[in-house]
Amino acid sequence: MAPLSCRKVFYLLFYVFVSELRFCFCSKVYVVYMGCRTNENLDEILRQNHNMLTVVHGGRTMQAKASHIYSYTHGFKGFAAKLTEEQALTIANMPGVVSVFQNLKRRLHTTHSWDFMGLATDKAMKNPGHNTKNQDNVIVGFIDTGIWPESPSFSDQDMPPVPAKWKGRCQVGEAFNVSSCNRKLIGARYYKSGYEAEEDSTKMFISPRDSSGHGSHTASTAAGRYVPNVSYNGLATGGARGGAPMARIAVYKSCWDSGCYDVDILAAFDDAIKDGVDILSLSLGPESPQGDYFSDAVSIGSFHASRHGVMVVSSVGNEGYKGSATNLAPWMITVGASSTDRDFTSDIILGDGTKYQGESLSHSKMEGFKRIIPASEANAGYFTPYQSSYCLGSSLNSTKTTGKIVVCRHTGSTSESKLEKSQVVKEAGGLGMILIDDADKDMAIPFVIPAAIVGTKIGERILSYINHTREATAQIFPVQTVIGSQPAPRITSFSSKGPNSLTREILKPDITAPGLNILAAWSPATKKINFNIISGTSMACPHVTGIAALIKAVHPTWSPSAIKSAIMTTATTLGKNGKSITVDPDGRRGNPFDYGSGFVDPLRVLNPGLVYDAQPRDYKTFLCSIGYDEKLLRLITRDNSTCKHSFRSASNLNYPSITVTDLKHSYSIMRTVTNVGKPRSIYRAEVSAPRGINVTILPERLDFHSYLQKMDFTVNFTVTTPSKGYRFGSLTWRNRDIRVTSPLVVQVRPPNLSYLR
Ligand SMILES: *[C@@H]1O[C@H](CO)[C@@H](O)[C@H](O)[C@H]1NC(C)=O
Ligand SMILES: *[C@@H]1O[C@H](CO)[C@@H](O)[C@H](O)[C@H]1NC(C)=O
Ligand SMILES: *[C@@H]1O[C@H](CO)[C@@H](O)[C@H](O)[C@H]1NC(C)=O
Ligand SMILES: *[C@@H]1O[C@H](CO)[C@@H](O)[C@H](O)[C@H]1NC(C)=O
Ligand SMILES: *[C@@H]1O[C@H](CO)[C@@H](O)[C@H](O)[C@H]1NC(C)=O
Ligand SMILES: *[C@@H]1O[C@H](CO)[C@@H](O)[C@H](O)[C@H]1NC(C)=O
Ligand SMILES: *[C@@H]1O[C@H](CO)[C@@H](O)[C@H](O)[C@H]1NC(C)=O
Ligand SMILES: *[C@@H]1O[C@H](CO)[C@@H](O)[C@H](O)[C@H]1NC(C)=O
Repeated sequence: MAPLSCRKVFYLLFYVFVSELRFCFCSKVYVVYMGCRTNENLDEILRQNHNMLTVVHGGRTMQAKASHIYSYTHGFKGFAAKLTEEQALTIANMPGVVSVFQNLKRRLHTTHSWDFMGLATDKAMKNPGHNTKNQDNVIVGFIDTGIWPESPSFSDQDMPPVPAKWKGRCQVGEAFNVSSCNRKLIGARYYKSGYEAEEDSTKMFISPRDSSGHGSHTASTAAGRYVPNVSYNGLATGGARGGAPMARIAVYKSCWDSGCYDVDILAAFDDAIKDGVDILSLSLGPESPQGDYFSDAVSIGSFHASRHGVMVVSSVGNEGYKGSATNLAPWMITVGASSTDRDFTSDIILGDGTKYQGESLSHSKMEGFKRIIPASEANAGYFTPYQSSYCLGSSLNSTKTTGKIVVCRHTGSTSESKLEKSQVVKEAGGLGMILIDDADKDMAIPFVIPAAIVGTKIGERILSYINHTREATAQIFPVQTVIGSQPAPRITSFSSKGPNSLTREILKPDITAPGLNILAAWSPATKKINFNIISGTSMACPHVTGIAALIKAVHPTWSPSAIKSAIMTTATTLGKNGKSITVDPDGRRGNPFDYGSGFVDPLRVLNPGLVYDAQPRDYKTFLCSIGYDEKLLRLITRDNSTCKHSFRSASNLNYPSITVTDLKHSYSIMRTVTNVGKPRSIYRAEVSAPRGINVTILPERLDFHSYLQKMDFTVNFTVTTPSKGYRFGSLTWRNRDIRVTSPLVVQVRPPNLSYLR
């Protein structure tokens, strides 16, 4: 036999080397999701997980053990492990496995994390005339960046002992010991294995302690104690409190410096379900478009939470455009963000005396009028005037900008930081900045020099003034808090919008709450402040969490879907001025894709009259209606579930909003309402029909005789004038005191014009 040539040997070695590389670098973290937990015992589940890993590691138990990250055993079954693509595929085909998906990173839903500094209490959250004393029996869990336990928002002064039902714990760690928990902050845990498997970056506080501020902010917005006389550098001064100040807080820190990983989020859900939280708040989520319900950590976790009676409140996302909504599953309530009637404005006066208002959180004072120039006229080096107009790093010629106010532009892209632009101008010797941005109107930023944000219209006027004036000048004044700004609330431009990209028959977002410039507790770890003002659907979510906690306190037996229904059917679609809620930046009239059922009304939620309730079995039927077959369904539920009684379409899920898609001629859907008001009460249907559609309700009158009585009705949609696109209306069941309102969203199937050919 001829000896191997050198070349062949080289190839051989090279091949071995490459396959080693493949093995080393292609191992990624996966979630292996296996549906509901049945009554197997814990050791049995752990042994099964280990066996599966041993099989794909060719019988090597040490490697199997090393690849294991988490086992999920309480709320649902599954595990997280480091696997190659091939191993993941093998496991996906093993019996009992519903899905295997990669450990993706989720983002906190705060706008532009680098502008991540600043938030406000909602004045509307007075205790309505109900007894909400039972709040201290309500436990609210937060899957977030942890908590700053010393903040006065989390004081346990005058709080009764921890409820006996609580099974959670206070996990000690860096700068966090057992005495960090108290009768307010009753539990705290942290999850870092998924993060560590993916990222090298060192973390601050390997413990439940919050280094970023986000987690303290969301927890205090939902359930913070009343703290008198707080402010952000003197702005928005007043008392700060959460929606349910006497509710208990349990913290599940799963989010670290750069985000939150799926396997850690699922571990948090698993523990929270076991610990006995009543409500879980998640101001985070997938990027749009989100994955299928059973390959998305938040959807899976919330599915099992709701089966255990835990209500899940989440944020819709900050991507802003049509169809960008995330957290789409019907078993959670998904919150969009609006403004409040509080603005932070900064006056701008031009040399000719014209006065404009911009948005800012900058306190810096400008002494007198300064020369003002467009950044495009100060381009440095190889930058074109167009490029420099965006004030990106080193694009400005300081010879031209020193001592002046610079007018910069902002595209609204999330990769640009407004705060950073003020630094660029400052470094180039600028004394002030006017930032033209129509996309994020009204979001206040703590700029490092006197600066303000204006919309395109005002921006063009300022540029035109500069263009037509030989020695153009301006002065920018420090920020002021303005209360009572109109119109309010408005839907923010960044709040993600419907339709639902996974199941068009379920409207998302469900509800809207304040999420613009909100003041709440902060972590002093990175910025030396205890309260901060920030924006995002992240901030809107805990407003609804707090309201849900109040409802749970007054109506402890209500299911998560009943609480959700109460929040949705009592919402308003009118602003404080009595006109339709508008949408930033252009002020167009809003619709349910912008605000869901509307703006939450905390004064009406406790007495909704009727609720649209849904039980875990209804979500199974829902899954059948969107194409899950019995086999897949049983993998998830691990029981004898069938798809026999599936509805005709997902529009028939007993949801508090009603969406019908692909309507051809006519279609009927069914709903069931449960009386939670006075035992004897009569409701009449009132319809505002979507344009070009006849809507009939049968029966038109509901006569209730007892508490918790259920009654069915049908809604029949008939097309009268075909035309493309979505149309909106509403259905209200009303009596003298109560209105139970659902948005109607109808998409007519475009007429079949093929006969024209
Ligand atoms: C830990 O506990 C001790 C008292 O038991 C307390 O003095 C100390 O401040 C605590 N440390 C932290 C970081 O909470
Ligand atoms: C609020 O705090 C500020 C500064 O800390 C103080 O000057 C002011 O007197 C306080 N106001 C009240 C009502 O306590
Ligand atoms: C800045 O502007 C000055 C004056 O117009 C010019 O002499 C200089 O070359 C410019 N510097 C850069 C880096 O563009
Ligand atoms: C400035 O004036 C010039 C010439 O008068 C014109 O071409 C340009 O469009 C003007 N720019 C602005 C922003 O008004
Ligand atoms: C499913 O049905 C079979 C046969 O009817 C029965 O033996 C089994 O116990 C059922 N399983 C569950 C989980 O209900
Ligand atoms: C809806 O109402 C129309 C008109 O009354 C009727 O012709 C149609 O059959 C109904 N559709 C359904 C699905 O019930
Ligand atoms: C729509 O409703 C109106 C009033 O109820 C009725 O007169 C009309 O015939 C209906 N049109 C269709 C197409 O069902
Ligand atoms: C349109 O109508 C034609 C003829 O009636 C039919 O063959 C075709 O499938 C229809 N197309 C759609 C999209 O419904």
